[in-house]
Amino acid sequence: MEIHVITIFPEVFPPVLTVGIVGRAQRAGIATIFVHDLREHTHDRHRTVDDAPFGGGPGMVMRPEPLFEAMDSIAPAPGTPVVVLTPQGRPFNQRDAERLSAHESVVFICGRYEGIDERARTSLATEELSIGDYVLTGGELPALVIIDSLIRLLPGAMGHGQEAIADDSHTSGLLQYPQYTRPAEYRGKVVPDILLSGDHAAISKWRRREALRRTLTRRNEMLSVIELSAADNKMLEELREES
Ligand code: ADE
Repeated sequence: MEIHVITIFPEVFPPVLTVGIVGRAQRAGIATIFVHDLREHTHDRHRTVDDAPFGGGPGMVMRPEPLFEAMDSIAPAPGTPVVVLTPQGRPFNQRDAERLSAHESVVFICGRYEGIDERARTSLATEELSIGDYVLTGGELPALVIIDSLIRLLPGAMGHGQEAIADDSHTSGLLQYPQYTRPAEYRGKVVPDILLSGDHAAISKWRRREALRRTLTRRNEMLSVIELSAADNKMLEELREES
């Protein structure tokens, strides 16, 4: 997969994208990330990327020309998602991560200041995404968040951890069940017996129940979106009675 990022802060990206699973995926050729400095596409001495809004008002707006020229230099194939990161975007979720990671290439445009000129937005962007209902100083951190979530879904990126994806919170539509590792007892706190039993069917059932319990208590609204089996509904009924 090819990932392009257009930003006025290109130096933000390598420290994050060269480590861990994302760094390994890049070295293995699973993902290649190109960071484009928006100021390379300016033509004035001060390398200006912003200007005051027509009509007045506070703040600055990103000028259209550098954005159009940066996109010209990337020349994405038709159908390539071009994502503008903005707090006005649709809230990003795991389904978006799955959808975007299935593309050969994706372009991210990191907004700054009070936003980008409307002509650039409507001509260049195929979608606008937000990573949550709060305002950051720019789209760089949101782009990093989304890139991380895409790369871990690419075949081969997670190595032996790939099969864990199905159990991830949000992949299955439920929050993930509690996890334990050695030692089996620590400071008087013990691991549930069932996890030490070797009975895989019983362990699966316990995990499903605990995933339902967590989702019920923390994110009740998620339960109305996913398809639940009769067994799930029975467990939910029992969990509701317990509480
Ligand atoms: N830019 C500033 N805040 C943002 C947010 N919450 N999501 C995406 N881009 C942003």
